[in-house]
Amino acid sequence: MAQRISLSRAARLVGVKRGTLQQQIRAGDLQTFEGEILLADLLQAYPDARVEDSSMLERVEQIIEQASFINVEHAARKPDNVALTARVMALSEELSLEKLRVAAYRRLQAQLREKIESLDGVADALQQLRAWLDDAASGIEQVGDTIDPSRVNETYLRVMTAQASVIPSGHEFFVEGAESLLEAGLRGGLALNYGCSNGNCGLCKMRVVSGETRRIRHHDYTLTEAEKGLGYLLGCCYTAVTDVVLEADEAGSAADIPLQHIPLRIKKIDTTDDVLIVSTRTPRTSRLRFLAGQGADLAIEHVGRSHYPIASCPCDDMNLQFHVARDPHDPIANFLAESARNNDLVNLEGPRGAFVLDEDSPNSLLFVAEGIGFATIKGLIEHAMALDAAERILLVRVGGDGPPYLHNLCRAWNDALDNFDYVTLDSPAAAGLEDRLQHLLPSDGLDAWDFYACGSPALEASLRHFAENQVLPPHRVTFEPISTGSLS
Ligand code: FES
Repeated sequence: MAQRISLSRAARLVGVKRGTLQQQIRAGDLQTFEGEILLADLLQAYPDARVEDSSMLERVEQIIEQASFINVEHAARKPDNVALTARVMALSEELSLEKLRVAAYRRLQAQLREKIESLDGVADALQQLRAWLDDAASGIEQVGDTIDPSRVNETYLRVMTAQASVIPSGHEFFVEGAESLLEAGLRGGLALNYGCSNGNCGLCKMRVVSGETRRIRHHDYTLTEAEKGLGYLLGCCYTAVTDVVLEADEAGSAADIPLQHIPLRIKKIDTTDDVLIVSTRTPRTSRLRFLAGQGADLAIEHVGRSHYPIASCPCDDMNLQFHVARDPHDPIANFLAESARNNDLVNLEGPRGAFVLDEDSPNSLLFVAEGIGFATIKGLIEHAMALDAAERILLVRVGGDGPPYLHNLCRAWNDALDNFDYVTLDSPAAAGLEDRLQHLLPSDGLDAWDFYACGSPALEASLRHFAENQVLPPHRVTFEPISTGSLS
């Protein structure tokens, strides 16, 4: 039977974005069969993948390594022994079955040859048939000389990672190493339901529709016998042994995320002339569930309370980063700049806000950030990287003299990721932005682009004017005014 593979696995195999394959499917260049595509069709569409495949895994590793600024705690990438054994067993069964089939075909071939020998009459026709059969058989014997590296790599990926498909959303993610289903889902950019990450609250309950899982952590939360019978488990305590289909709740919008109160500890404060980069950490069992692009209120006893965007990715829910503008009217900013020490306590209330990515859009993404508006945009970019769906990402930073803060980080993204471009515009937000975008974006229409921007009203006006001239529907431009600073 022709081999089919999922879209996520196919994208990984040939080194393109999932969104690229989706666009090819929409354009009719690739066919899908119940959400999967034929490996043969994929190889036809990407003949060069055969050449690159030998280095594909190294390239994936390299990008992940270079993208370590996302600061995700990766589990060791070697699968758990039990999972590895089960996957090798499954492949061995497949191999044994194929060997039995091959032996049966060989027997059939020998019988056919004997049958031809035993037949009388029409000798010429029989001789021709026999010659044809011998030719065809020797062709089959030579198949082993031309092993397709793509097929080898596909099999290798099946051993090293398990794929999880989530219903009803249709989202997919890969479970690597011995990480839990919850950790892998968050790393893959999914907004799964959860609370303690530690087997106590039961909020990460999900149902295994198919596939094999294995418990990797003890949990105190008790599932009822009925729930267990239906296949429910706790995502934070189980890993996938084989490919799995899971029924799980995901946040559809910011309204689905509850307001949380979490004590943070300051881990590090990096300073620039204008901005403090504040790295904090939640307790292991009380992490912040949020959507990229949201913010939170930070309060320090006897100091004050201020609102800041969360400048990190929800895929790392323990290590939260905030960018704080130096502002003499913001007591928290003053405290962080002058008095704060590592391990000081900061009380978080959040998340707040609804400036989030349309995760189901396969479109390329334009991000425009003005000044400290980069804090909000950075969260979105890191989340878009985790989703790995956008064919292209373009980041434009505007305003200020000279390189903006975290300029080197943006350049590192630009260098590490094939689909990422970064440019700066030194002039004020409204000046020159439209001209610059005209040159940076495709001239044949922006049908496949979504715009996200954070900055001043002048930036918004300029961007919306550009989008209007390009006949981009208004809902494809999402804007967030800079909102940061003291709430008292
Ligand atoms: S997140 Fe609380 S039990 Fe899994």
